[in-house]
Amino acid sequence: MAQIYARITGTGSALPERVVTNADLEKIVETSDEWIRSRTGIQRRHIAAEGQTTGDLATEAAERALEAAGVKASELDLIVLGTTTPDIIFPSTACLVQHRLGANGCAAFDVNAACSGFVYALGIADKFIRSGQSKKVLVIGAETLTRMIDWNERETCVLFGDGAGAVVLEASEEPGIYATLLHADGGFKHLLFNPVGVSVGFKDEPNHGVRINMSGREVFKVAVKTLDSLVDETLQAAGMEASQIDWLIPHQANLRIIEATAKRLNMPMEQVIVTVQEHANTSSGSVPLALDYAVRSGQVKRGQNLLLEAFGGGFTWASALLRY
Ligand code: COA
Repeated sequence: MAQIYARITGTGSALPERVVTNADLEKIVETSDEWIRSRTGIQRRHIAAEGQTTGDLATEAAERALEAAGVKASELDLIVLGTTTPDIIFPSTACLVQHRLGANGCAAFDVNAACSGFVYALGIADKFIRSGQSKKVLVIGAETLTRMIDWNERETCVLFGDGAGAVVLEASEEPGIYATLLHADGGFKHLLFNPVGVSVGFKDEPNHGVRINMSGREVFKVAVKTLDSLVDETLQAAGMEASQIDWLIPHQANLRIIEATAKRLNMPMEQVIVTVQEHANTSSGSVPLALDYAVRSGQVKRGQNLLLEAFGGGFTWASALLRY
């Protein structure tokens, strides 16, 4: 029997209309465009309007991906949505999106792997297709992370933005996803977390609101080291050399982390999709947003090999090596 691959047949993305520049943030906290640009590469970010949810952005991105793939929502047999900012506690945002798309009846669930959410979702969807369980799958990464930003805290408020991206995966005899790797180490929780939640009784840390706790410098160091070994492991899993990769599509958190990974792969920055300057860190939205941008701008072409990677709270880290 021929090997079944999961192939990306369509991509889509969605961004809130409102753009907040570094200069805008200079008016809110003690920061500067120069500091933000030189430390992170970020120039601006999109912020969700009042009432605009993760599910709204996810639905918009999904509709575009379905249209690009020429697939009707009713044909889907699975929806996997990576998010750490669901609309409500339950039903899952995947269920809310499924109903809005008119895909009622198919399996639908969320994956919370923080910034690695989309790549985790892609890895899961790949397994469903390879096993023969699913034929047409919608994979979404969507976030409204700015909902948990403390706008008085310059260490974090400059780093994040809102957005969503989606892909349609279809079973095919043509590659396809060659390899996906998913990892986590909960021992690093203390470096990047939001303490508010259901089972702890919605308790908050005094005077801090619903906020992201992050030890930036430590996260940076672990991210670079972990992504170095992740890309090596991914190449090995796919039986490929770095020279066979046409494009690196990394998680868009920090330009310096992206540059370090490109260096590890010996890839010039011309072969790296960088959108962090426009979107900041959109968590699960970041990789599929960058992918959709690269496809629609004509940079990524059919038949090219793409290496996707992400790193986030957990810590979690994940990758996918695929032929587009
Ligand atoms: N504007 C101006 N100064 C700021 C600032 C801001 N927005 N945020 C922090 N600073 C200050 C700090 O208070 C510190 O001041 P001090 O030296 O007087 O104590 C100084 O800048 C340097 O801070 P440092 O933490 O050493 O900077 P850095 O070079 O490590 O850059 C990050 C900070 C957060 C940009 C960087 O560590 C990073 O990107 N880490 C990874 C974060 C991430 O990607 N998280 C999500 C993972 S998915």
